Parts: sequence; C-alpha cells; structure tokens
Amino acid sequence: MSEVKMEDIVSLAKRRGFIFPGSDVYGGLSGTWDYGPLGLALKRNIMNLWWKTFVENRDDMYGVDAAILMNQKVWQASGHVDTFTDPLVECSNCKSRYRADHLEGDKCPNCGKTGTFGEPRMFNMMFKTNVGPVDDENSVSYLRPETAQGIFTNYRNVVDVFYPDVPFGIAQMGKAFRNEISPRDFVFRSREFEQMEIEYFVHPDKWEEAFKQWQDNIKGFLKQLGLEKVYEVEVPAEDRAHYSKRTIDYEYDFPHRRDELLGLAYRTDFDLMNIQKASGKSMEYRPKDGGTPFVPHVIEPSFGVERAIMAVLTSAYTEDEVNGEKRTYLKLPTHLAPVKVAVSPLLKNKPELVEKAREVYKMLKKEFGNVMFDDNGNIGKRYRRQDEIGTPYCVVIDFQTLDDNTVTVRNRDTTKQERVKTDVLISKLL
Ligand code: GAP
Repeated sequence: MSEVKMEDIVSLAKRRGFIFPGSDVYGGLSGTWDYGPLGLALKRNIMNLWWKTFVENRDDMYGVDAAILMNQKVWQASGHVDTFTDPLVECSNCKSRYRADHLEGDKCPNCGKTGTFGEPRMFNMMFKTNVGPVDDENSVSYLRPETAQGIFTNYRNVVDVFYPDVPFGIAQMGKAFRNEISPRDFVFRSREFEQMEIEYFVHPDKWEEAFKQWQDNIKGFLKQLGLEKVYEVEVPAEDRAHYSKRTIDYEYDFPHRRDELLGLAYRTDFDLMNIQKASGKSMEYRPKDGGTPFVPHVIEPSFGVERAIMAVLTSAYTEDEVNGEKRTYLKLPTHLAPVKVAVSPLLKNKPELVEKAREVYKMLKKEFGNVMFDDNGNIGKRYRRQDEIGTPYCVVIDFQTLDDNTVTVRNRDTTKQERVKTDVLISKLL
C-alpha cells in the first residue's frame, strides 16, 4: 500500500480543480466523477501519450473510434450478456446491497448486524437501454462495458480496407460503463470510466512471442508515466476472464491497497470465432504469400485511464519542508503536467511589470500552449498553488527584468531560482 493517504489525493484533486464528484450540486451520483480543467489536461496528456506511443509512432497499428451503443448481438456473442456478472448480496435487515467478494465476514457494513446476507445472486454489470421509441426485446442495447468489442467488430473492415500484414493491432480509447455494485476508492472503481485498449492480431503459433513483446511495451509506457514500481501478477486460471488463456495483472500500490492498474490478456481466437459464428461472416485472414488462411489470435493490453491517473497522482504526491514550512507538491513528469509554466508579475499593482509579464506569457504560450498567467495572491501563495498542481516552472517578472531583460525561473522540485535572459527562456524550458 502507498504511504500517500486517499483523503489527501481526493482533497487536492477537488481543491485544485482536477476531479469533482459527478452531479455535485445535486448531492452527487455514486460512481461518477467530473473532470475540471486541470484533471482534464492531465487525462488528455496521458491519453495522447498512449496514442502517440502505441498508434502514431508505430507502423502496425490502426486506430478506430466505434459507437458506444452497439447491436445487442455483440454482447450476446461476446459472452457479456450471460457472464459479465458480479455476486450480489442484500442485507435482510437494512436492505443495503454489496458485492459478496468485497465483504469481510458476514457483518453488514451499514447496519452492523451479522448473518443477514442470503445466497449471492449474479448481477449483470451492463447498463441496459433501448434504442428508438419502441421499448421491447428487439430494441435492447447496452452502454459498452469495454472498448474491446468495438475493435473486434471492426476487424473485418480494417483487414478489407487496409490489408495489413499480420501481426497488426487495432487501438481504441474511449468511455466504458459498468454498473459496479459498490463503486469506491475515488475514481479507481467508477461506473463510467475510460479505457485505452489494443487488440493485437497474431498468427496462432506466434502468440507467446507477441505476449512477451507487449510486456516490454507496457513497461516502457509505464516508465513514461513515471511509474517505476509496478508488479506483474500472473492470474491463475480460475480467476481469469472467460475469454482468456493467460492474463497478467499489472498492480500498483494505490492509497487504498496494492491493486490492478491494467491487464494483459491472451484472448485466443475467442472473440473472432464468436463473431464468425454469430454473424455468418468469415473472420479468416488470407496471407499475402498464398499461405493457409487462419483466424488470428489476439493479445490484449487493456489500460484504464482513471487508474493511470490515480497511480500518477499517487506517485507524484510529495510533502517536504521549505524554510521551515510544510509544502505539498506534485512531482509530475513535465510532459504530463497540466501547466508547464506559470508566468507572474512580482506585484500585480505595477502596470509596467504586468505589461512585461503579459509579453513573456504570450511568447511562452505560443511555444508551449499549456502556460498559465497567474497574478492571484502574493508570490508565495502562487508558488504554493503551482506546486500543488505540479507546475514544473514558475517565471517571475520583477523590476530587474525592466533593466536587463532577465526573469527568474523557479524549479518546482528544488525550489531554486535562477535568472535567465528572456531571449533564451524558451530553450531553457524545453
Ligand atoms: N477488455 C478487457 C477488459 O475490459 P478489465 O480487466 O475488465 O478488462 C481493463 O478492464 C481495465 O479497465 C482495468 O485494468 C482497469 O484499469 C479498467 N477498469 C475496469 N473496471 C473499471 C472501473 N469500474 N473503474 C475504473 N477503471 C476500470
């Protein structure tokens, strides 16, 4: 378990505009969260980095963005209608409901009575809805519980249009929905969240090789997130999802406990064969060299965005002491920080300083984009605020700037300041 406390992360996230409870103004909606400007920036930085690493920087990957609502046959064929369930129990005294495998003992966490839970019943976690004005069996649809199926259903399209060499992958990022029985641990277990998934299609004889490569690829990406200590846990057969022949869970020391950050699964030809059977359309791949056609097997690295955000915040959360005062800061990697540079006039009531600060701000904004003009409160308060949101550099314009065109650049981690000529400022901050 991390030494960082959950309440510190949740409090900073709300106080500084990263993540708010969903529908907060109406008392919230359990398992939902809203991203404020800084949380959204952090989330986008993580998602963009993932896309760049695994799609843009590679020649063997194809991106898709499938509809969230899909034909109900997708979820029948994939096994989700029958088996995407968690065990649900209800307390006969207070009627509270819990996920049976999350309970310790037989004491109800709400009313404290023991022996009030009956036999668990299986609860399907998909959000059910109807498409169109008629509410009957044929109009049933579901909010997707994983982005993966939107990839499998586009496999044939990508093969027919792009005719890629095997192995190749299809990637998708986007929302997924699960009606979790007990959402908890901040955004870790939400009812609405985002996934970043890849289905990597390989020849059936080559799956082990590809699995190993994906272990290396995942390690590389986690390093880019600044996450050094991630544990690979081999999932035993009885705990694996219905479609998997091998799974590794990547676990991280979150504030609540060591828990799953992401998964890597060998899904065999389970999904493509099911689609072939249910749709009557061939999922075979025909090798360009005239070799024997085959239905590819699949390696699936599946990342949860919320869990990546939580791990990044936990790893970055730091407390130290500066000039005898306690300081909290986020030691975020610069490429993930929502704000790269904050620009301030030393005093906000001196128009000549403000004017010069605006000029420097404009120059940096044009170059880096994620630059903030900050003239709220005194300079000490500004540093504290920027430290808490993880801004790597604060640039301050003071009276000396007007004389010699130098500014101070303060480093978040060391709190050291140095004077830098404005004409080399951009290269200094690169
Ligand atoms: N397509 C495979 C799949 O969806 P999963 O293990 O059920 O596998 C993959 O989910 C990842 O999605 C998890 O490792 C986690 O990061 C994220 N995830 C799953 N359920 C979640 C939830 N309720 N809240 C936040 N993230 C979740």
